Amino acid sequence: MEVFRTVLVLDDSKTFLDDFDSLMSSSFVVLQAQTEREALEHLSRKKVDVMFLDLLLGDGLSGLDVLVRVKEIVPDLPIIMLTAHADVETAVEAMRLGAFHYVSKSPKIEELKTLIDKSLAERTLKRDYQVLREEVQRVSGKIVGNGSAIQELLLSIHRVAITDVTVLISGDSGTGKELVAREIHTASKRHERAFVAVNCGSLVKDLVESELFGHVKGSFTGAIQTKLGKFELADGGTIFLDEIGDLDNHSQVKLLRVLQEKEIDRVGGTTPIPVNVRVIAATNRDLFTMTQKGDFREDLFYRLNVYPISIPPLRQHKEDIPLLVEHFLRQYEIQLSRPRLRVSPVTLEHLMEYSWPGNVRELENVIQRAILLSPTNIVEPEHLPKEIAENKIPTTEGMSLPDLEREAKERAARVAIYRALEQTNWNIREAAKTLGVPEKTLYDKCSKLGIKLRNKSQSQTGQF
Ligand SMILES: Nc1ncnc2c1ncn2[C@@H]1O[C@H](COP(=O)(O)OP(=O)(O)OP(=O)(O)O)[C@@H](O)[C@H]1O
Ligand SMILES: [Mg+2]
Repeated sequence: MEVFRTVLVLDDSKTFLDDFDSLMSSSFVVLQAQTEREALEHLSRKKVDVMFLDLLLGDGLSGLDVLVRVKEIVPDLPIIMLTAHADVETAVEAMRLGAFHYVSKSPKIEELKTLIDKSLAERTLKRDYQVLREEVQRVSGKIVGNGSAIQELLLSIHRVAITDVTVLISGDSGTGKELVAREIHTASKRHERAFVAVNCGSLVKDLVESELFGHVKGSFTGAIQTKLGKFELADGGTIFLDEIGDLDNHSQVKLLRVLQEKEIDRVGGTTPIPVNVRVIAATNRDLFTMTQKGDFREDLFYRLNVYPISIPPLRQHKEDIPLLVEHFLRQYEIQLSRPRLRVSPVTLEHLMEYSWPGNVRELENVIQRAILLSPTNIVEPEHLPKEIAENKIPTTEGMSLPDLEREAKERAARVAIYRALEQTNWNIREAAKTLGVPEKTLYDKCSKLGIKLRNKSQSQTGQF
């Protein structure tokens, strides 16, 4: 049986309502309302799929006001405005306020059906997207790390997010510069507006200006249409200028002007256009040294470096490796539908020993590859790249038997402790319980084995 969609129509003219009804009632359930109150009553009682709303409601009541009020009650209800005459200006204003579309007051049934289908499809898409986005955000896009380095990083991110100042993020390749930039945007009041990422290193030299600031039709060969630049696309939001050290001198001058004047010049344009954009730049090069050598403009450097954030390489916060590994395993569980993935203790130890020149990105890739290579849900050293699996867990060659035994015991203890800490989210009391030792013993063991305990309760207790 075909399920009829319910359409609500609000118009002050009874004649129009009846005409509309006779046009639509063979394909839809039509609810009529002659006043805003009647419309709201319908909305509170019935599940309405689409609403048609007259722009001019008589008694000086504007359809725009009703639109805003209905949107407050049912935010994702598709609303199509009815316009008596070609009042396109107001119709456009209605769309800006959230109406789905507008249609003339002598509508054709086919036109209406198409509009209704489109509006419902768009709503479904938006809902799916919302669900997907929430799911993806839940497991990815999260900055992971329990150690003090990452905790401090999170603090500075949230400190700067509430301001509008320019941020310069520096860090080696794969350390999470883009992730941090996105987090700043997400935590800022601009989060509902665009985050536009531009990789300055991959821009074609002659097109840098046009990419960043846009161009006017006909301003150069190939400019067949007026095009908005990234700054205009990011208006109201955040622009992320990645690999800023790769920008040539000419573009540096242009960028400096934008930062100072808060307006851009489209290539070939005659008047500057004001833009309201928060700038976050990132680099894996040492910009300061570059300014000393004359490779980067000093004035621009200081404009960008208002709030510097430096992300440490992974080898300097190895204590976060177990948590990062867990984090990536959880992501792939969802992406690959592989339940209960984990790494064996000895694998974890290999991962902790390695120096990670490619930082978190490399770790992420290694885990992904290992999962694909492992036939079970457990990752073993053989699934790791050679340089990691063969990397010492320090050499045992030439060691005496007692030394070997002590070494093996220590290694086993270290692995067990890491696992317990990991499982308890680095809660020492819980971990000690799991391991069946008093808390004090666990502290001593960690100290002896060089395991750094890093959360608030420990840093107050002292250095382990
Ligand atoms: N602390 C972290 N927690 C969770 N994931 C992280 C962390 N740091 C980095 N990542 C992940 O590692 C990958 C690399 O991060 P990102 O792209 O932000 O690095 P980058 O510094 O911009 O690298 P590049 O210089 O190569 O562009 C991403 O998938 C990111 O989600
Ligand atoms: Mg990057």
